[in-house]
Amino acid sequence: MEEVKVAKKRMLSGIQPSGDLHLGNYLGAMKNWIGLADEFDCFYFMADMHTITVRQNPADLRRRTLEQMAQYIACGLDPEKNVLFVQSHVHQHAELGWVLNCFTMFGELSRMTQFKDKSAKNAENINGGLFTYPSLMAADILLYQTDLIPVGHDQKQHCELTRDIAQRFNGIYGNVFKIPEPYIPKAGARIMSLNAPETKMSKSLPDGCVFLMEKPEDIQRKFKRAITDSDTENCVRFDPENKPGVSNLMNIYSAVTGRSFEQIESEFAGCGYGAFKPAVGEAVIETLRPIREEATRLLADKAYLEGVCRSGAEKASYVAEKTLRKVYKKVGFLPR
Ligand code: TYM
Repeated sequence: MEEVKVAKKRMLSGIQPSGDLHLGNYLGAMKNWIGLADEFDCFYFMADMHTITVRQNPADLRRRTLEQMAQYIACGLDPEKNVLFVQSHVHQHAELGWVLNCFTMFGELSRMTQFKDKSAKNAENINGGLFTYPSLMAADILLYQTDLIPVGHDQKQHCELTRDIAQRFNGIYGNVFKIPEPYIPKAGARIMSLNAPETKMSKSLPDGCVFLMEKPEDIQRKFKRAITDSDTENCVRFDPENKPGVSNLMNIYSAVTGRSFEQIESEFAGCGYGAFKPAVGEAVIETLRPIREEATRLLADKAYLEGVCRSGAEKASYVAEKTLRKVYKKVGFLPR
């Protein structure tokens, strides 16, 4: 019988090189990118164009972009099997971003939580790019006819807006874009700060944030100092409302070990927080150790990393151009 070849579904995601990668990025996003290249057609990028919506030191941005590429590979993304690229190397992102700006409503952009948060934090620089950020993110996704977007929970709203923009465009011009779906993990989608468990883990709160390249002793210190709850119970039990600190640690432990909350509760029954915190620290250290070692090795070979960026951009650009050409034709631009 003749074999029917079914096209693989496509996955795409990106991270801003706005700071060093942290445990939230890893558990919410990257961990779910790994090992999928046989089943999916995978595209992952450094969202450097998004990063300049907040003022950056240029040399640091360049360094972090290359470091992020090393960390992607070190996490297990084989550049032969995954398309790894830098967003600004693929000019189609900016071009489609502009077109989609014209199909995104002011009211929609005004409702975005990330815009509200970032404009509160950068009151002196609420620029147009920060406001229209979601149209560029929609372009990132729609250029590649993406099926699934593996992201943490905080990106759900942007993914939903991307779907709305795609549906609006398709409604006018026919089926130009595939309608993508966010792919959010069960454990790890919302990692909270270790010392402020009501706020999400982010580089802007460095004391409560575990960085992928951090030394094991520093990671362990952060876990030992992690805020647990002030109840008198001193018992490891999943209850995000009343026990946000312990529940966050359980979420982290579950994401790195694959154990369920019930299994964790019985593993630490009668142990108290004092024993649980260093155990979570140890599990995280062992998860991150091979990533840190491999990334350090890769960073010594800048030429190799630059080569990966070049070939990734070439492959990405080839796919992106097909969509962009179709879009330009549909909206009525005169062919070159
Ligand atoms: P960014 O750079 O803020 O975060 C990158 C990824 O990490 C996830 N994440 C978290 N997950 C769990 N807990 C946390 N504390 C945590 N902090 C961050 C985010 O959900 C995200 O998946 N707009 C995006 C970047 C982007 C993008 C794209 C993503 C640009 N274009 C296209 C997907 C597809 C952002 O700012 O993510």
